[in-house]
Amino acid sequence: MQALAICGSPRRGGNTELLLKEVLTELNVAGWETELVKVGGTAIRGCIACEKCFENKDNECSVKKDKFNDIFSKMLKADAVILGSPTYFAAVSADLKAFIERAGYVAYANDHAFSGKIGAAVVAVR
Ligand SMILES: Cc1cc2nc3c(=O)[nH]c(=O)nc-3n(C[C@H](O)[C@H](O)[C@H](O)COP(=O)(O)O)c2cc1C
Repeated sequence: MQALAICGSPRRGGNTELLLKEVLTELNVAGWETELVKVGGTAIRGCIACEKCFENKDNECSVKKDKFNDIFSKMLKADAVILGSPTYFAAVSADLKAFIERAGYVAYANDHAFSGKIGAAVVAVR
């Protein structure tokens, strides 16, 4: 079984990363393969509503200039996806929100690609 943790904090070694690593350590002990990727502090912007994902249905976002598709393909392979975010003004970080917009829409366009996966979240506060 594979678990992918997605960190929405721009801080390296920050609280969100620490929390996600705690979760992944427990999963490792239970025999899972794990990986942590960062979307916080990256150039991944939000969905541009081009709807190309609904035309192409190729499990990819048409915006190819960033790491979105690499991370999305890891999500498709994972059995479990854990989203982590710092609390920014009582919400997820803008970086994680941008990623969620695109991942959610591409998955929706591709026969609900996250269907059956395990989902979890960690949140860091002040
Ligand atoms: C722009 C910004 C907005 C924040 N808004 C909140 C907030 O609404 N509530 C809260 O509890 N903490 C807030 N915080 C604090 C962070 O959520 C908190 O320090 C968190 O542990 C940081 O996680 P990180 O180390 O992974 O970045 C805010 C921090 C920043 C930079």
